[in-house]
Amino acid sequence: MRQVLVTGGGSGIGRGIAQHFAAAGDQVTITGRRMAALEETKGDSNMICRALDVTDEAAVKELFDQRFDVVIANAGAGASGKVKDLSLNDWNSVINVNLTGVFLTFREALQSMQGGGRLVAIASTASLQGGSTISAYSASKHGVLGLVRSLAIEVARSGITCNAVCPGFVETPMAEAAVEGVMAKFDVPRDKAAAMITGNNPMKRMIDVQEVVAAVAFLASEGASSVNGHALSVSGGEI
Ligand SMILES: NC(=O)c1ccc[n+]([C@@H]2O[C@H](COP(=O)([O-])OP(=O)(O)OC[C@H]3O[C@@H](n4cnc5c(N)ncnc54)[C@H](OP(=O)(O)O)[C@@H]3O)[C@@H](O)[C@H]2O)c1
Repeated sequence: MRQVLVTGGGSGIGRGIAQHFAAAGDQVTITGRRMAALEETKGDSNMICRALDVTDEAAVKELFDQRFDVVIANAGAGASGKVKDLSLNDWNSVINVNLTGVFLTFREALQSMQGGGRLVAIASTASLQGGSTISAYSASKHGVLGLVRSLAIEVARSGITCNAVCPGFVETPMAEAAVEGVMAKFDVPRDKAAAMITGNNPMKRMIDVQEVVAAVAFLASEGASSVNGHALSVSGGEI
């Protein structure tokens, strides 16, 4: 039975990933700051819930007291704002969660992996392109890709692979917050805001969580053992 860790497993993409691996018979551990959300993901399954903040170095170290075979660094936070309006605190908080959180998770995962393993980061299309008002988020996600590509080379002879999945807008609470932000900023109804959000996606729709789950499942599979340092775009051809 594989030991699988999913950070940010209490909602959205992380919940979908955790439930997929649990249904496949793996032993899944999920983390996040809100225990109630983790318990909701767990439901009747045998998942293990651990409440922790991915930016807390000591807590992340403690999490890896046990071995994990598959580690999905999914926890992340959205952020918007033009560079000229960003406070240092706003900047630091996005970089801390989205980039430093992945660094800490992968660094400790390496200590626990024996004879191989799978590291997958949930990055973003914002890892591959910039955008007005997403500078901190995009910088953090570009950073994740730099980390993934570099670590992939470091582990290439160890049986471990390290890859990133780069979704466009996915139907989750984070995207819902983005839709609400557009509604408020441009004073437009929900359908118009949703159309503005999905405008860059050639399919003109949001990505389904299960479409991201499928990409993660592939990268975590035995068949993906030579896929390393890859950024898998799940964006309907946006990029
Ligand atoms: N939805 C999209 O359109 C989209 C597109 C591309 C990439 N992504 C990426 O996909 C990942 C999952 O996002 P989502 O859409 O599923 O959003 P979500 O539902 O808001 O999930 C984010 C998860 O991260 C956890 N988290 C946030 N800050 C944390 C912290 N400091 N420590 C521990 N856990 C933390 C949250 O749990 P707690 O609040 O309980 O801590 C939550 O479960 C993120 O990395 C996001 O950037 C999302």
